[in-house]
Amino acid sequence: MEKIIVSRSIPQPFKDQLEAIGQVEMWDESLIPMPRNQFLEAIKDATACLITLSEKIDSEVIKAAPKLKVIANMAVGFDNIDVPLVNSKGITVTNTPDVLTETTAELGFTLMLTVARRIVEAEKYVQNGEWQSWGPYLFAGKDLSNANVGIYGMGEIGKAFARRLKGFDTKIMYHNRSRNKDTEKALGALYVPFDTLLEHSDFIICTAPLTEETRNKFNAQAFEKMKNDAIFINIGRGAVVDEEALVYALQEGQIAACGLDVLREEPIDMAHPLLSMDNAVIVPHIGSASVTTRNRMIQLCVDNITLVLNNQYAKTPVNLK
Ligand code: DGY
Repeated sequence: MEKIIVSRSIPQPFKDQLEAIGQVEMWDESLIPMPRNQFLEAIKDATACLITLSEKIDSEVIKAAPKLKVIANMAVGFDNIDVPLVNSKGITVTNTPDVLTETTAELGFTLMLTVARRIVEAEKYVQNGEWQSWGPYLFAGKDLSNANVGIYGMGEIGKAFARRLKGFDTKIMYHNRSRNKDTEKALGALYVPFDTLLEHSDFIICTAPLTEETRNKFNAQAFEKMKNDAIFINIGRGAVVDEEALVYALQEGQIAACGLDVLREEPIDMAHPLLSMDNAVIVPHIGSASVTTRNRMIQLCVDNITLVLNNQYAKTPVNLK
């Protein structure tokens, strides 16, 4: 008998599909993660689990789960999972690439324009009854047109972001672990060394996953090199940024503003200095959050679990290169 753990509440039609293949134990909350000890208990006799990026899959989980065959992560990023360890036990790990690409790029774009045009500050100003008249420089922001935009991480989301830039007459630069000449041609993007990206971009968008190579990539030295009026957007992973260095850069005017969908610690500590800064816009990791995309992500997890439990290859296994 298969047993499938689902670590967040998902709509009944998806649960029904899983129930057709085995017994389902679902945590009935959608905003509160399953407590770790409950997860460890539930996973003991599980053969599959559908998890979110809040669940850390480490040696403690793997030790507790001798029957586990598949872990379906409802995210494209999988830094919450010790993949080499899990693979060494013959357990399949899957993620949700492609289905969330456009939605995540749209959120990045939304954040970029929101920060550039100071929309959050302006909206608060209206709500607070402070609006007295039209002013020549009232909430004057920064143009995207004709700007140099630097993309750090030219994977699928980086490319989708670059495609959207094409309508704004921007110059696109990118830095990535490897160069992709087809992308350069298709998107008119220029490959540059990381330092050049930092020094010449008016907007920098980070779409990079968290790896040992990208951890703390945006550190004090990086922010120091950026233009003083640069806007930094992060839709990749929080730990790609040294947040203390970011706070310092914003306070000291090394850069102008930031927009973050991801943070080192999620949810953010309410005492975090970024929360009291007008030039920092923070949203709660909602890059892929459209109803259609979230449905697709869950369906892909369900499909992957179904395939593996039927002794077939998963659609989107995570293969470490
Ligand atoms: C992902 O899929 O990795 C995103 O960060 C979740 O929205």
